[in-house]
Amino acid sequence: MPYDVIFIGAGPGGYVGAIRAAQLGLKTAVVEGRETLGGTCLNVGCIPSKALLHSTHMLHEAQHNFAKMGLGVTPKIDWKQMLSYKDEVIGQNTGGIEFLFKKNKIDWIKGWATIPAPGQVKVGDTVHEAKHIVIASGSEPTALPGVTVDEKTVVTSTGALTLAKVPKHLAVIGAGVIGLELGSVYARLGAKVTVIEYLDAITPGMDAEVARSFQRLLQKQGLTFILGAAVQGVTVKGGKASLTYKLRKTEAEETLEADTVLVATGRKPYTEGLGLDALGIETTPRGQIVTDARYATSIPGIYAIGDAITGPMLAHKAMDEGHAVAEILAGQHGHVNYDVIPGVIYTHPEVASVGKTEEQLKEEGRPYRTGKFSFMGNGRAKANFAGDGFVKILADKATDRILGAHIIGPMAGDLIHEICVAMEFGAAAEDLARTCHAHPTYSEAVREAALACGDGPIHS
Ligand code: NAI
Repeated sequence: MPYDVIFIGAGPGGYVGAIRAAQLGLKTAVVEGRETLGGTCLNVGCIPSKALLHSTHMLHEAQHNFAKMGLGVTPKIDWKQMLSYKDEVIGQNTGGIEFLFKKNKIDWIKGWATIPAPGQVKVGDTVHEAKHIVIASGSEPTALPGVTVDEKTVVTSTGALTLAKVPKHLAVIGAGVIGLELGSVYARLGAKVTVIEYLDAITPGMDAEVARSFQRLLQKQGLTFILGAAVQGVTVKGGKASLTYKLRKTEAEETLEADTVLVATGRKPYTEGLGLDALGIETTPRGQIVTDARYATSIPGIYAIGDAITGPMLAHKAMDEGHAVAEILAGQHGHVNYDVIPGVIYTHPEVASVGKTEEQLKEEGRPYRTGKFSFMGNGRAKANFAGDGFVKILADKATDRILGAHIIGPMAGDLIHEICVAMEFGAAAEDLARTCHAHPTYSEAVREAALACGDGPIHS
């Protein structure tokens, strides 16, 4: 009996798609070559980095805020234990997916897949038949010319999660999400952290006001930024790295010595070995698989989702696409609203955004109103030493419909979701402002920012 659908890859796109497909009655299998399920996100990405962000945030609290609250604790860093706590978290999560596969009767075909022809997935010497194939093979770090990754001295995010010891000086290439999350981890652990970024601002694409505030807060935490600098190369001698970069304005070439270099300059689709060229599957110049609104590739019966296609490389975007493609294959009408996909950076404070930035609205010439509220005016935040940051809501000037929201502050990654739901329902800022929010919660800052789009907030 052929499968109704085989997903290639058990990351957030593939495993969620497979579970939904099985729940909808499709005979489903997933091909995965890693030893454990969950893809990059669960094994060497989102989940392990969050474990290290959590433990080092606790360290920061113990070092900086415990005494103020009358708690006498002298924290000691046990790096080995911190790594094994992280590994335990990974194990619980990947094991959880394995349990869900069994529960939903999904076959895990272990190994790396090739697609010899539509309707066929080859793993090792066995060819599995499937009515539909969904490529959910994810992404891998992009290579930087002149920089050789050895995952010891020069590492990608994967190596940065398993360093033998905390470096004295960590140089980070790229002030994007990975660079800043992992840079924060090592800065909290006592490393000197220097971030070198090609552009003149950190976190490209982020609302500029939030990015500026974010940079200031990270600098206060000890991170140093060299902006407008293109990294030319890294040489390693005796376990030490020497990094060369060129300042774009003056063309001056400078060098920087570091114990460890983290290369975090973006990711690209990982489709190696699938046989896309032989099949004639259309891809973009950046290697992303071209799909239509139903996730169908240029070859009938073959679909693609997640980091392997266009759009933001985010686990939750891939999950939603997995969900949608499963529904489509089951004859339903799955779809993803790409206008309401939140983005979160899990530093402290967290940064979260959804919808349009102020810069985008200006460029579109769309009249808008801005409502801003600082966490300094939020009682709960003050009690928790979390007054840094603000909520900013952008609403259409004429209709008050929410067009975007940007939060830097405590639990921003959770707070953003009430705005996402509001946007899904086409809500106005006034709808949020008139919704009762429990006191004292961080979420009151969201309400106050919504009030600021209209008659004004109460607590500022
Ligand atoms: P990114 O695209 O977010 O940032 C890369 C940065 O490197 C850019 O600012 C770019 O200007 C800079 N850069 C590129 N070449 C350079 C050079 N030669 N010298 C100096 N700077 C250079 O990429 P990142 O941080 O590697 O993340 C990869 C993907 O993973 C992203 O799509 C990100 O959204 C996703 N991710 C998401 C997370 C989250 O949602 N919390 C966590 C980690 C990753």
